[in-house]
Amino acid sequence: MSLMGKLALVTGGGGGIGAGIAAALIEQGARVVIADLDERHLAEATAQLGGQATTYQIDVTDRASWAAAQTQIEAELGPLDILCNNAGIATPRGLIDEMDPALFDRVVAVNITGVFNGVQCFAPGMRARGRGHIVNTASVNGLLPFGSFTAYSASKCAVAGLSEALREELAPYGVGVSILYPGLTRSRMSLSPDVGASGGRPMTPQIEAMMMDPLWLGRATAQAIVDNAAHIITHPAYLPQVEARFAAITGSFGAPAQPGYGEAGG
Ligand SMILES: NC(=O)c1ccc[n+]([C@@H]2O[C@H](COP(=O)([O-])OP(=O)(O)OC[C@H]3O[C@@H](n4cnc5c(N)ncnc54)[C@H](O)[C@@H]3O)[C@@H](O)[C@H]2O)c1
Repeated sequence: MSLMGKLALVTGGGGGIGAGIAAALIEQGARVVIADLDERHLAEATAQLGGQATTYQIDVTDRASWAAAQTQIEAELGPLDILCNNAGIATPRGLIDEMDPALFDRVVAVNITGVFNGVQCFAPGMRARGRGHIVNTASVNGLLPFGSFTAYSASKCAVAGLSEALREELAPYGVGVSILYPGLTRSRMSLSPDVGASGGRPMTPQIEAMMMDPLWLGRATAQAIVDNAAHIITHPAYLPQVEARFAAITGSFGAPAQPGYGEAGG
């Protein structure tokens, strides 16, 4: 799909990666709406984008908020071509059995249900028109879950699974789906002392230096939309760990638990 003139909506567009995606889509000639819960984030991102994006306040957990956004966007700008479900939250590191259940529910609501809500809102129109593209932001944690970040990892594995299955559902209708798996990227989230990459400790220059510029994630995302690529891997250094994880899974495939199972087509 060429991006020139296409209408795109980026949730969490007031933040690092969302603003990077918005900037990259604008570079390619798309018309962009950035949507975010936080009006200050929207104002900062609009300034950063040189006023080239339309803004919309939305809570991705709230279906009424999605419906209102859809009605207004379609009335003012026309049908949506590209949906980037990017809004997400992280949590402080810790044991999941000690986690505040309300925080777990919030992670599920924003990171998983938020994506579901966006898909329910805009995928039917894309299917009916026989074109469109959806990008869901997972995380490298969607491929490499790790302890102390368990709820977040679980939510990102869910985003990856939902997106891969969604890609299969929408392909017959000419609608593409891509999954973005960022590693460390410069953003409010990653720099936050509570939930960010320093894991609750003071940020070090070494960690900061490892953070990718979100514009490059945006450019990789824009290219994936053009190519209808399934997986957007921006941080290839994780490959050995991903291979080791999948080798552990495939290496566990042995004889069936029930002796003789499957031998007669069962
Ligand atoms: N930065 C990283 O290193 C990194 C790595 C892997 C994945 N991610 C993922 O990338 C996405 C973007 O995160 P970021 O790092 O740019 O963080 P960020 O905090 O800078 O941006 C996230 C934005 O989402 C908005 N948001 C939060 N809850 C919302 C809601 N209910 N409705 C609408 N907007 C909401 C926030 O206001 C914020 O502007 C997230 O899904 C995150 O999990 C980030």
